[in-house]
Amino acid sequence: MIKRPKIAIIGAGGNVGAAVAQWAVQKELGELVLIDIKPGPAEGRALDLAQCGPWAGFNAHRYVATDKAEAMAGADVVVMTAGVPRKPGQSREELIGINAGIVRGICADVKKYAPDCVLIVVSNPLDAMVFVAKQVTGFPRERVIGSAGVLDSARFRTYLAMAAGVSVEDVQAFVLGAHTDKDMVPIVSNAMIGNVPVTRFLSADKLTEVVENTKKGGATLTGLIGTSAWLAPGAGTCLMVEAIVRDQGRVLPCSVELQGEYGIKDAFLGVPVKLTAAGAVEIYEIELSASEQEAFAKAVAANTDLMNIARGFLG
Ligand code: LAC
Repeated sequence: MIKRPKIAIIGAGGNVGAAVAQWAVQKELGELVLIDIKPGPAEGRALDLAQCGPWAGFNAHRYVATDKAEAMAGADVVVMTAGVPRKPGQSREELIGINAGIVRGICADVKKYAPDCVLIVVSNPLDAMVFVAKQVTGFPRERVIGSAGVLDSARFRTYLAMAAGVSVEDVQAFVLGAHTDKDMVPIVSNAMIGNVPVTRFLSADKLTEVVENTKKGGATLTGLIGTSAWLAPGAGTCLMVEAIVRDQGRVLPCSVELQGEYGIKDAFLGVPVKLTAAGAVEIYEIELSASEQEAFAKAVAANTDLMNIARGFLG
């Protein structure tokens, strides 16, 4: 029998997990296993999605939806979206007390049932949860990757396109650093629009405004919707799943453990990586401006503080 990639989504009863599932079935990326602590919502999401198939032109009626962790057995990719989302006015960092324990417990199951998977972490506070996942699974760093840079960069590109009045597809720009409002580092120094530096399109003041909008992008949506966003987080995460199951070698900003890159050791931050079937196999060091370097250093310090809190949950 021809084997299709097995993709397990944990927390699939929630908005982000369901959005990852939606993009994944539309792209026909593989066999989906939807897991949630509550079986009802997982089943409901799967059924709702399956019923899109007749009009949207895909087959999603052979799903697995369950509360049983063992259903992820042998998965090629596990997407961890479990945990509580932030509420209006709340920071991602404030979720650490609840989400660290949840992520820790599920990662023990990932290690047991899907020891060879590439694990994509989406739960917040993101970079600290990648650290927890790496500690609990003991997987090599190539196989424990945080999804946030893809989302933050999508927001950055969108705000740049809106400000410059150009197509978002022609905006090339990355957000690196932490997935927090404070320590996200939108990289302006090498951002381009159609291969032309963004500074040719936008004034310094306008660029500062775009950077600020990007950094508070998640908070803005949480305020507007009443809970955190899910469509763009799902789309970005699914791009990573696709890069892995199709072995594309895409170069995307993802959160990984730094082991000397950028002069940083033992921290988890967003950097450009090459994503293949083996995970984040390459990390690229790019030149940063003086202010970007400073922002990066601040992100490392904040990440260390969060990891120290997370350590308390590792037992
Ligand atoms: C956001 C959440 C998902 O930035 O972290 O929308």
